[in-house]
Amino acid sequence: MPFPSSFIAELKSRNPIETVISRYVDLKRAGSNLVGLCPFHSERTPSFTVFSDNFHCFGCSAGGDVITFIMKIENLEYRDAIQFLADKCGMAVPAQDYKDYGKPKSALTREKCFEMNKIAARVFYSNLNSPDGEPARRYLDERKISPATRIHFGLGYALNSFDHLTDILISKGFTPQEINENFLCGISKKNGKPFDMFRNRIIFPIIDVSGNIVAFGGRVLDDSKPKYLNSSDTVVFKKSRNLFALNFAKNVITGDKPDEKNLTKSYAKPGEMILCEGYMDVISMHQAGFGNAVATLGTAITSEHARIISRFAKTVYLAYDSDDAGQAATKRAIRMLTEVGIDAKVIKISGAKDPDEYIKKFGSASFANIISASEGQIDYKLNEILGKYDMNVSEQKYKAMTEACGIIADIRTDLKREIYVERLSQLTGIKQETIYSEIKRTVRNENKKFKHQFSELLPKNIMRYDDRINTEAASNYNAAAVERRIIGILLLYPELLNSKIKISEDDFVTTFNKNVFSNIKKIYETGETDITQLNEVYTPDEFSYIMEMKFERMPLSSNGEDALKEQSELLKKLKADASDKDETDLLSVIEKIKKEKLKKQQ
Ligand code: GTP
Ligand code: MN
Repeated sequence: MPFPSSFIAELKSRNPIETVISRYVDLKRAGSNLVGLCPFHSERTPSFTVFSDNFHCFGCSAGGDVITFIMKIENLEYRDAIQFLADKCGMAVPAQDYKDYGKPKSALTREKCFEMNKIAARVFYSNLNSPDGEPARRYLDERKISPATRIHFGLGYALNSFDHLTDILISKGFTPQEINENFLCGISKKNGKPFDMFRNRIIFPIIDVSGNIVAFGGRVLDDSKPKYLNSSDTVVFKKSRNLFALNFAKNVITGDKPDEKNLTKSYAKPGEMILCEGYMDVISMHQAGFGNAVATLGTAITSEHARIISRFAKTVYLAYDSDDAGQAATKRAIRMLTEVGIDAKVIKISGAKDPDEYIKKFGSASFANIISASEGQIDYKLNEILGKYDMNVSEQKYKAMTEACGIIADIRTDLKREIYVERLSQLTGIKQETIYSEIKRTVRNENKKFKHQFSELLPKNIMRYDDRINTEAASNYNAAAVERRIIGILLLYPELLNSKIKISEDDFVTTFNKNVFSNIKKIYETGETDITQLNEVYTPDEFSYIMEMKFERMPLSSNGEDALKEQSELLKKLKADASDKDETDLLSVIEKIKKEKLKKQQ
């Protein structure tokens, strides 16, 4: 049973798409549209457009309505996206019968998780300050975490007990099932009884950018294993998206609200962020005046993390551990961050294993110094290459030079390139001219490779060989194209479905388009013209793909009854012929386009 259309209509009118999207994307007016940098792929010039009730990216084809947008950017299912938007405007979501839907759905709402976490955080916090919290307080003293810092981060302590927290949560009305789904208790396989997940650990609450407690991390007080226990993904927590202390750091970085509670001198500069590995590093750094530090939560940085970081920071200093694992993580982070347009720099930590240890040993002023001395990513990569090879062995030196020239060949500006050519020449004793000619050769080869790939990709694109959503499009090219036009016209003019022109599911050749048509028809037959409920049936990518059919038609002037008539007759013919394989004409078109594009490239 879908949500009542009056509810969806009100939800949408109370969450205007431009207001919702502006929370994530900096939108600028361009004619009657709003444009910005697409949050779903990395780009430097805006191709992300918001118009009427929709968004569409001309770069990556993401598109849809406000619900699709929230599903995609918050990584939520249809119902959770509805709940998310309803929460934002204080609307109640009508009860739904979940039995109607294929997969069993958790009844644990986001609100309930937040509520449970808030109670748990209070319990942990008061444990820390109770007589039982003595060992934990001693541990934090040893690690030089001040009382003010403990309060700021809401640090707590999970008692050495199997039922302390669970009992409290149950007494507040949560069921063991709900507590378990929120990762605060386990359920014993032996007797089915719930038991506290965090026991005898220092607790670090993880807070999202809206200020909700979404998860917890817990550290042992000694050398036992595992050292850290982190919440698994829950309804409100995805470790591939959340960053520890981003709730504090974002204000410091954007200069919105300088952290008043932080009485120490602040070393943080606007637009700059420090990314490190652990809770303790972040806490130490904030305490020492680097309130712009955040950490991924026991996982490697993901492209989602990078995208989120790029909303706040232009420059990111990487402060990973100085061991091999930390260095591998650094390389990965440079790649991820560069992809979203962030300038990544690497802090060289020597004489200590991580930022926490460094600050304890050498002080914050010294840490500020190594930040300003940090290497740009090109320096970092060049030094890494030169360190990897023995420069006294000719064959190895040759390999090092080839790799290094590859790095410099990627630099786009002449000035920057010249600086690094000079530097490489100094470091290796190879003449600058020689380095330049090697770089030219690399660029030439890469261009050749690009052209080759380009000519391979283009015909595939045109024929939708790579159409991952409608997989039958490649072998039914003409029919699929006509189907797209028909669906596009019907999305623009729903009333045409009841016109003299008769189109039915049976006219469709490809299964995906046939289903789309039949789903749209079902919606239109109820008198509804908004197809947003298809967000529930299709993934955001599929929904984008469907909306694209509409967007493709929008700039054209012939979208009326005549166009629909023409296309539906064409489709009937194609279906009858069943010989949708006449590619001779198409291939000659592709050849022509290919030649023209290549000419432009030269
Ligand atoms: P301290 O020993 O307290 O200084 O910790 P650290 O922050 O220096 O820890 P380390 O460099 O060993 O680990 C960095 C981060 O990885 C931690 O903050 C955790 O988020 C995560 N981590 C470390 N050990 C474990 C573990 O045993 N299990 C899980 N799930 N995560 C861990
Ligand atoms: Mn450490």
